[in-house]
Amino acid sequence: MRSPQRTTLRGLPERVQIYEVGPRDGLQNEAQVLSVEAKAEFVRRLVAAGLSAVELTSFVPAKWVPQLADAEELIAQLGPLPGRHPVLVPNERGLERALACGVKEIAVFASATESFAQRNLNRTLSESLQLFAPVVSRAVEAGLPVRGYVSMCFGDPWEGAVPVAQVAAVATELAEMGCSELSLGDTIGVATPGQVVELLGKLNDRGLGPDRLAVHFHDTYGQALANTLVALQHGVTTVDSSAGGLGGCPYAGSATGNLATEDLVWQLRGLGVDTGVDLEALCRTSLWMAGLLGRPSPSRTVTALAPTLE
Ligand code: HMG
Ligand code: MG
Repeated sequence: MRSPQRTTLRGLPERVQIYEVGPRDGLQNEAQVLSVEAKAEFVRRLVAAGLSAVELTSFVPAKWVPQLADAEELIAQLGPLPGRHPVLVPNERGLERALACGVKEIAVFASATESFAQRNLNRTLSESLQLFAPVVSRAVEAGLPVRGYVSMCFGDPWEGAVPVAQVAAVATELAEMGCSELSLGDTIGVATPGQVVELLGKLNDRGLGPDRLAVHFHDTYGQALANTLVALQHGVTTVDSSAGGLGGCPYAGSATGNLATEDLVWQLRGLGVDTGVDLEALCRTSLWMAGLLGRPSPSRTVTALAPTLE
């Protein structure tokens, strides 16, 4: 079967915006650094497969993430693209680099925990929020929408359990700074569905409804699809995923890849939820990328469909 049978469930949105993070969250964690031409080809193929929101790269120091050191060259090679194409920016220097390239949307990335803020941003949590405040206000003044990530929302490898109030406090601060969308990160893939519902409820109580939220699940313990489904049942309509399940975070050792975009599309297609994505074209792209990286894709859907695509 190349496509699931369709049976709908009540309480789901008609359409989901898939926010593809493969070129950034995926490639930032690969030991092998791809050429800028290969990255540009990856992005073009994702866009051609119907992904209308693709996070392209990060404007961080090359010594922190050498895999994405060619951000300027990548944006120049790509030229104008249809849809949403944000980049990660950690500080004002990163914002200036992004603006100089004509970027139209950025994302800042905070942590719900002190330990990850220090490892990922070399700052305390409070200092990291101070780092982002002028970035967000300058970007908003320049007319750019800003996404705010909150990492370690459901568990932290150094601190263990993360209190839901702590996550809500960071999310609220980012929203007050001017972030228009907040992405709730399960950076190490440990969340289970009850936690997701609890956090969405807490954020809703604080005036952050599901229309402002996205979910960002890594799939370390195989929970990403279950977590996504409950988030959709609670009103979220933007879901982060990476083609082929590429990904991880270089500063969170236990993180594996993101929820695979193909696995998400298979489920949503079965549920009759529109994504605009051509699953075959996407699987072909992930098989091509797996060839470049010299290892099979961890996506179950890519693996299952591969023989039908030869
Ligand atoms: P730092 O080393 O403390 O920075 O890093 P600094 O401000 O002291 O500057 C050090 C040097 O870097 C200076 O140069 C700066 O000019 C330069 P030098 O004087 O030594 O020659 N510099 C820059 N160069 C280029 N672009 C810049 C820039 N900024 C400074 N933007 C910093 C602090 C925040 C910059 C660093 O810690 C950083 O960039 N961290 C980001 C690490 C990262 O990208 N992590 C992965 C993304 S987060 C993630 O994956 C999670 C997510 O997927 C959600 C989830 O799963 O939960 C989003
Ligand atoms: Mg991530």
